[in-house]
Amino acid sequence: MAIVSALHEELAAVLDLMPDEQQQRVGGRTYWRGHLYGQEVVAVLSGIGKVAAATTATALIERFGVQRIVFTGVAGGLAPGVRVGDVVVAQQFLQHDMDASPIFPRHEVPGYGRSTFEADAGLTAQLARACEQVLREMPVQLGVDVLQSFAMDTPRCHQGLLVSGDRFVSTTVESRALCDELPRALAVEMEGAAFAQVCHDYGVPLAVVRTISDRADDAAHVDFPRFLREVASRYSSAILETLLRTQ
Ligand code: ADE
Repeated sequence: MAIVSALHEELAAVLDLMPDEQQQRVGGRTYWRGHLYGQEVVAVLSGIGKVAAATTATALIERFGVQRIVFTGVAGGLAPGVRVGDVVVAQQFLQHDMDASPIFPRHEVPGYGRSTFEADAGLTAQLARACEQVLREMPVQLGVDVLQSFAMDTPRCHQGLLVSGDRFVSTTVESRALCDELPRALAVEMEGAAFAQVCHDYGVPLAVVRTISDRADDAAHVDFPRFLREVASRYSSAILETLLRTQ
């Protein structure tokens, strides 16, 4: 299994738990092979954006022969009920900045006849179960101070459409435009749909979980580093542990 993180903090937490990891450099990235909770894994930092994501996914499949990929990271919430501290488990992916119109319909990926790619249903169901379990315990573990400082209430797990593009969405005008254009979109990030396209090409199962770090609005940058450290990386370690221990 490949464990892909978008953030240094998340990868560091994973590597701390791998007793026997060995590193290998491919295409300018470091891949860590070893065991995590008894399972053979390859861990890597994806880099940011769709091109970095696509080359990482390709190397994982071609060079390391991974048979499934689990991606953890953060995203900006788009749909009204998707709040900071919630998690989104992707069922479908779409590139919100794909536009070859008028030759192809808006968002359609040329050559594929489609605009959305699917997450693997089985792996995604396992990941969603792990998230539900972790979210039940997380508020107590984080403590009142952290919860209050990020205005987090009872974190929820959402499943549905995740949209990706090569842009950090940080204005209310842009996030409203995305919601109007793609009303089913739950959250926005910068890599998921690229992973999904490569995994579709190779027939490799993919599951993606994103912790909501911001609302993709004018306040999207506020306290981002502290959220990654205090909330997101703790979520992802706990989710991966629960997922791998229940395999
Ligand atoms: N990842 C986390 N927040 C994001 C945002 N607002 N836009 C794009 N990617 C993100």
